[in-house]
This record gives sequence, structure tokens and C-alpha cells, in this order.
Amino acid sequence: MGERDTEEGWDFETRAIHVGQAPDPTTGAVVPPISLATTFVQAAVGEHQGFEYSRSGNPTRQSLETCLASLEGAAHGFAFASGLAAEDSILRLLAPGQRVVLGDDAYGGTYRLIAGVFGPAGLTWSTVDLTDPGVKWPPDVQMVWLETPTNPLLRCVDIEAVAARAHAAGALVVVDNTLATPFLQNPLAHGADIVVHSATKYLGGHSDVVGGIVAVDDEGIAERIAFTQNAVGAVPAPFDCYLVLRGIKTLGVRMERHCLNARAIVDLLVGHPAVERVYYPQLPDHPGHAAAVKQMRDFGGMVSFACAGGEPAALEVVRRTTVFSLAESLGAVESLIEHPGRMTHASVAGSALEVPASLVRLSVGLESTSDLVSDLAAALDAV
Ligand SMILES: Cc1ncc(COP(=O)(O)O)c(C=O)c1O
Repeated sequence: MGERDTEEGWDFETRAIHVGQAPDPTTGAVVPPISLATTFVQAAVGEHQGFEYSRSGNPTRQSLETCLASLEGAAHGFAFASGLAAEDSILRLLAPGQRVVLGDDAYGGTYRLIAGVFGPAGLTWSTVDLTDPGVKWPPDVQMVWLETPTNPLLRCVDIEAVAARAHAAGALVVVDNTLATPFLQNPLAHGADIVVHSATKYLGGHSDVVGGIVAVDDEGIAERIAFTQNAVGAVPAPFDCYLVLRGIKTLGVRMERHCLNARAIVDLLVGHPAVERVYYPQLPDHPGHAAAVKQMRDFGGMVSFACAGGEPAALEVVRRTTVFSLAESLGAVESLIEHPGRMTHASVAGSALEVPASLVRLSVGLESTSDLVSDLAAALDAV
């Protein structure tokens, strides 16, 4: 690593642009090259420049891993082919018979991975409301898995409080930081052991790459994640690593604008006759508002709301917008609208994680604030 890889004294935006991304020593290129080589020459057996085979380690991937670790304040970062591949590497830290406790408002794919893949392989799991500080959880827990803000209800969990309780029980704490991003929240600083991201969302930021990240401080956990990353091989392609790195460079400015646009949308929704309830962590009556104020730098770009007209109205609103595109996913420059019950969260129907049928979720993008407000206002006025 070059001398510009030192992050001493650098703010977030500077680290996002420079850490792990020193100019190429052979050409001076300011953007790290996309290293497509699958194998790396050795001067003698075992004598090489840090890379042997691209599944085990790749220079472009290493740039991304170094940068992300710095942004999360972690000692180690690991990149994966998707957010779920990253989650899979974490759940493999547990042995059959051990228990993971999952917050009861989690991404449906996380629930599906635990209930449909690790459960049948012997992992024990339960869901609890982690926003409730007094909630009982099983005494034999080895891992507590939480999202904050949650997807899609945007409830916020006090990471520090959960970590204190989990650590007293000898359990690891995993925080899915996808919705907040490291710009708005650093879970390790609040006591979490492991941070996971779907890099497909705000980190990539442009709806053109699928990826995942794990960030940890603990050497022992890092060794085991590194082992799984190499042994299972769910690694991202070098081009995908480049795309995520490119996205991260503008994460700070993008998040500031996402938050600003989201606030304008919340102002429209609050008090609108077609809206029964607005879910946004900045609202004082929002579950976990105090936790959000305590651990987040701002409140993010995701907004959900329940339609007064129930599911028919929700389906009509999502059909009517034009600047907000009807699509799954979140966290990119373009604004998206969706119906979680029938789309992203269809896999949790009938479970404790089921979401209200009247719910609409918005990923507020970076278009003009007034175009976004007019678009949603027209759709709401029509139902
Ligand atoms: C909060 C959250 N975590 C994890 C994932 C899974 O990430 P990926 O789709 O990159 O596998 C998603 C995907 O929507 C998500 O929203």
C-alpha cells in the first residue's frame, strides 16, 4: 500500500476517495486498475507480491475491502458477490444446534436464508422485537442479527443497548448497515461485532452492480470470514469491485441529498388525507426515534407509509407515479417505489415478519426535489 493509504486524520469523504486507492505505482493512474488476472506469477515457490490466485485475493477487490473497512472504522473488510453471500459467510460462524436471534422486521432474503437454508441444516433461530429493550430472548443465543433502520418499517434499534445485552449472554452482534450506510452510522463504534452490507444499494449507488461487504475488528472472526470467502468462493468480479469503489467515492454527497429529498417527501406525506401513517426515523413519534438520534448522523433516504385506503390504494399509488419507478431494490440515484407485501417482502408472508398490506416503500433518489414531490402528490391525490 502507498503512503496515501494512511487514513490518519482524514474525514469520511477523503477516505472514501483515497483509502486503498493509491495511484498505480507502475503508471501513476489515479484510479486503481481493474485487475482481471486470475493468477499471479511467483519468483520462487511462495514468493510473490501478495497475490496468488484471484479467488483468494485480487488487487481491485483489496482496494474495495481496504476502503470499506476504513469507512466502517473496522480493521478488516471482505467483499462478496452479493449481500446475501456476505450474510452467508457470517451465519457460517455458527454450528448446527447454535441459535441466532433475528430482529422481527428484517429483509425478507435474510429471513429466507436463515429459515430456508441454515434452519434445515441445523441452526436454531427465533425472531424478536429488538426495538423493545425489555423483550425476552432465548438464553442460549450465540448471535443477534439486527437491522437499523429496518427494512421496510424503518424502525431503529439501539445498537449499544442490544450489544451490551448480547455480550453479557456471550453472543455476537451483527448489524446490517445497508440502509444507513457508513456515512450515517458506524455500528462497530456502538458495540457491534460484525457489520454487513448489501453493496448493491447505497454503496454502489447506481443500480448497476450486485455486491456484499463484511467489516469486522476481531482478528479471530476476520480469519474465519476470510477462510469462508476463499473456501466457498462467493467473491465479486474485479469489474464489480471497481463499480462499488466508484460509487463509494460519492457516497457522502449522495447521502446528504438523499436525506434532503426524503425530508421533503415526509413533509408531503405527513397530514396528507390519503396517508394513514408515515414511517421515517426523524419523526418524533417514530419507534426508535431516540435510537436514531443517538447513533445516526442523519435519517436516511428511505421512507415508508401506510395508505388510508388499504392495499387497493397502495397498489394504485405505486402504479401511478412516473418519476418514482415501480421496482424492487433501493439506495440508488433514481427514486423507486414498491409494495413490500407483494414484492420485496413476499417471502415473509404468514411469518412474524409479515408487513402491512397497505404499506408503500420509497427509496428517495437524487432527482429534483420538486419533481419528486409533485410526482408523489399527483399519485396520492388521485387515490
Ligand atoms: C437490508 C438488506 N440486506 C441485505 C440484502 C441482500 O443483498 P443482495 O441483494 O445484494 O444480496 C438486501 C437486499 O435487498 C437488503 O435490503
